[in-house]
Amino acid sequence: MTTEQEQQLSEAQIAVHWREEEYYYPPTRFIAQANAADPAILERFREENFPECFKEYAELLDWDQYWHTTLDASNPPFWKWFVGGRLNASYNCVDRHLAHDRNKAALIWVPEPEDEPTLAITYQELYRRVNEFAALLQDFAALQTGDRVTFHMPMVPDLPVAMLAAARLGVIHSQVFGGFSGGACGDRIADSQSRVLVTMDGYYRNGELVDHKAKADEAIEVAAKQGVEVEKVLVWRRYPGRYSSKTPMVEGRDFFVDDVLADYQGQLVDPVSMPAEAPLFLMYSSGTTGKPKGAQHSTGGYLAYVAGTSKYYQDIHPEDTYWCAADIGWITGHSYIVYGPLALGTTTVMYEGVPTYPDPGRCWRIAERLGVTIFHTAPTTIRMLRKLGPDEPAKYNYHFKTMTTVGEPIEPDVWRWYYNVVGKGEACITDTWWLTETGGFLGSTLPALQQMKPGSCGPGVLGIYPVLYDENHQVVEAGSGAAGNICIRNPWPGVLQTIWGDDDRFVKTYYAKYNTDPDSKDWHDWPFLCGDGAVQAADGYYRILGRIDDVINVAGHRLGTKELESACLTVDEVAEAAAVPVIDELRGRAVEMYVALNPGYQPGKEIEDKVVAAIERDIGKIARPKSVWIVSDMPKTRSGKIMRRVIASVSNFADVGDVTTLANPEVVDGIRQQVQSEKVNRGDVPRQLTPEEEAEIKAFGQVE
Ligand code: WTA
Repeated sequence: MTTEQEQQLSEAQIAVHWREEEYYYPPTRFIAQANAADPAILERFREENFPECFKEYAELLDWDQYWHTTLDASNPPFWKWFVGGRLNASYNCVDRHLAHDRNKAALIWVPEPEDEPTLAITYQELYRRVNEFAALLQDFAALQTGDRVTFHMPMVPDLPVAMLAAARLGVIHSQVFGGFSGGACGDRIADSQSRVLVTMDGYYRNGELVDHKAKADEAIEVAAKQGVEVEKVLVWRRYPGRYSSKTPMVEGRDFFVDDVLADYQGQLVDPVSMPAEAPLFLMYSSGTTGKPKGAQHSTGGYLAYVAGTSKYYQDIHPEDTYWCAADIGWITGHSYIVYGPLALGTTTVMYEGVPTYPDPGRCWRIAERLGVTIFHTAPTTIRMLRKLGPDEPAKYNYHFKTMTTVGEPIEPDVWRWYYNVVGKGEACITDTWWLTETGGFLGSTLPALQQMKPGSCGPGVLGIYPVLYDENHQVVEAGSGAAGNICIRNPWPGVLQTIWGDDDRFVKTYYAKYNTDPDSKDWHDWPFLCGDGAVQAADGYYRILGRIDDVINVAGHRLGTKELESACLTVDEVAEAAAVPVIDELRGRAVEMYVALNPGYQPGKEIEDKVVAAIERDIGKIARPKSVWIVSDMPKTRSGKIMRRVIASVSNFADVGDVTTLANPEVVDGIRQQVQSEKVNRGDVPRQLTPEEEAEIKAFGQVE
């Protein structure tokens, strides 16, 4: 073993010590009405009942044909769930609720401008809209079962309508987060080979009607460069009949949805009965290499998994008013705004804009006005609401029975504010840890049965059996205080089926690390690598430390360092680039870019601005770096790899550790001097890192 490897090993296994937090218990009133109040459910999902235990989730759905095999694990790691079964996701989220709940609100949409009325769409109305748009997709856009369609939509009800219309036809949808750039959308169109793009003219964000159509033209150009021609662009209008964008429509290619829909009024389209393992949608996410990967999710397994976890973990009852304040452009919105809640026939709330617009009381006004009973958001939003309006929740008369947090580790202190102030001490909190690739929750607490512990997500959820491995494939024991790579030992219905068009990358990314025998036909030999470091307390609860790969989690959004770096490298002056995370009080982590210039160029503000502009153009505003540091040289290993953990330590004022194995250890002091003195000047010195944060920074960039 080389010294370099030895050093990496010891750092990956770093011991993490934190203060044990006290438990919180659910209110009696909550327990009395909870979907999972009988501890027998924990028994039913024990490992000896796997995989049949998941029948309980699948039975929440209506099947056209019952399955014959719950889990077909004969071709690892390509698991097949509910084989032989047939169903339609759109039917399950819409049609089946008509008999009893025809005129109950399925969706309540809250526009950002407060003077615009809230729109309640009943199940009947949703049924009409989904059918009409499905008829349009089938006839006008000529989409067929198995085709892909890309959506680049903001938070408007037309988005779930479009998703459910595609699902009705068995067309695979790929929704790209509306805040992503046209270029990022174009890459995803090309990768999924979509011939149709569904977009919108504009939407409100922070009081401004944003021109969104402009991104469509760019997306199409980028896709065309990669050999994929988009034939039709379907443009929803924020105000039907009135175009809110300055970007011209392209004759013969671009069409206003409200115009075309006139031809499909009242049309009904039979839901296509799909095999359980037919793909339902793709969701692109960042990974270690620059190319985003399209997580392919199934129809039967996925829908069963999100319905089951929505029911038991978020305690959704049909009579609840449930508000998940995520964006549908991310997996959280797919699983826990659209598919899970609608499969259960509840009322799901969608909000168009920024949570603090026009003031930090907005969320609580919405909750009061609509009588929201379940609230779901991310630590970033909680931190922001706390900073801007710590006393706002008390001013409004709403009562949550349960609340969810997702997307990043939540600091115990922030958790307690969420619990005491937002939840008014009356609501349970479920801290749900999972990933785009996993379809639904992996770690959390059953709110009536398992006590809460601030900062820990809890144990594995029903039917999920996690394990922590160290770099030598040894199990890291609960209570040892050591960190490990968290893996899931077993298959589960919500797990991605593959990476779209790249089975090899799928196997390599999620299974290769801990699979000892690629020929093994036994699922026990195929632990799923989640990509997070974690510590398990003696009580079995996990505390998630963050990504072990080259991914930076900014405000709950996964940004790949390679994507950030490739964007920088499009700037002529830039020779080398490295992206690292810095601890940020509001966003959890922010991005800092380090760049080295080509010979002949002098550092300056102009180049820094070009770097920022390139990132915003290629990825989107969410990826905007906090700082750009132009350095004379990057610290590198002898094999030429940029040591991101070293510069990440500099940015965070953490100990850089042993740098003697570097090819150029002498550059480290210079970089530290340059960056840290500038940060001191700006008054931007981060607080002392917690031991977990220190561990995360040390482990950063070690997996390639
Ligand atoms: C992080 C979002 C701590 C984690 C659903 C994971 C969390 C990545 C939590 C996936 C949580 C998500 N506590 N960390 N409750 N939830 N993460 O794919 O690092 O956007 O690997 O899925 O977010 O992000 P993704």
